[in-house]
Amino acid sequence: MGPGDLDKAICGLPPMTDPRLIRGLESPDDAGVYRISDEVALIQTVDFFTPIVDDPYTFGQIAAANALSDVYAMGGQPLTAMNIVCFPVKEMDIAILREILRGGVDKILEAGAVLLGGHSVEDSELKYGLAVTGAVHPDKMITNAGAKPGDRLILTKPLGTGIISTAVKAEMATEELAATVAGYMAALNRVAAGLMTGFEVHAVTDVTGFGLLGHSAEMAQNSGVSINIHAAAVPVLPEALEFARQGLCPAGLFRNRDFFAPVVTTRDGVPDYLADVLNDPQTSGGLLISLAGDQAATLLEQLQQNGIKEAAIIGEVTASGAGRIQVI
Ligand code: CO
Ligand code: CO
Ligand code: CO
Repeated sequence: MGPGDLDKAICGLPPMTDPRLIRGLESPDDAGVYRISDEVALIQTVDFFTPIVDDPYTFGQIAAANALSDVYAMGGQPLTAMNIVCFPVKEMDIAILREILRGGVDKILEAGAVLLGGHSVEDSELKYGLAVTGAVHPDKMITNAGAKPGDRLILTKPLGTGIISTAVKAEMATEELAATVAGYMAALNRVAAGLMTGFEVHAVTDVTGFGLLGHSAEMAQNSGVSINIHAAAVPVLPEALEFARQGLCPAGLFRNRDFFAPVVTTRDGVPDYLADVLNDPQTSGGLLISLAGDQAATLLEQLQQNGIKEAAIIGEVTASGAGRIQVI
């Protein structure tokens, strides 16, 4: 679906026709879903990557928060997790790995889930993440394919963490800013996911590598709708805007911009640097929630009252021109 060429490798595999399959390869979503009974469906997801921050404990937290997020994005509860570790054991102190795993476990416990085990291999490049299993009532599952005309869209975390991570690597960001951004990336989407279950939510995804516009486009295409994004209403870290203005952006941002350009129209008055931030890849971003328009203000109020202060209503779902994104 996205700008990942490796996804082409799964083309041509035999189709999965098991009637218990609810979400799988044929319906790209945040996680796979499999029906166990009329009351329980399993949610399964796996995510791991190379360090995006220097501090090993923080990296562990962020990688785990990101892996757990895909369960929240399906409307489910994480139950169990397994470590995935690639580690250069001959070159790197094992104490670093211990800190990474400790960061991950703290997030697993915060999610109310249990670490069952994992697998590690020796590798020249350090990588860490989790395979996570969650559960949801099959009727309460929320896909990325149910957005309806008239819905409004809420985003629960500010954009710009990819841009600022790039600035941190280039030693252009203060330590304070680096810590702020790490805090956003390490934050679980648990509270937002819990609150949204009380509302008529039609579609959810989490904003990660494809950026806000890419994940919005995926939602629009899978739902057969179009989406308006109000650029000025999107929560953005102010420093990220400033770096984008200076052209300091990660390569992934431009890959996203080019890949999704055919389905995105941007109004003339929207500044380029702001449009760029909307394509910023987020390592562990917020939830993008599409819900009945008349309920959006109430959910937003509850999110803000529960500490998710940057949450904002950022757009709406329209009927016309299926699968398109308008940035206005
Ligand atoms: Co996701
Ligand atoms: Co994921
Ligand atoms: Co093993």
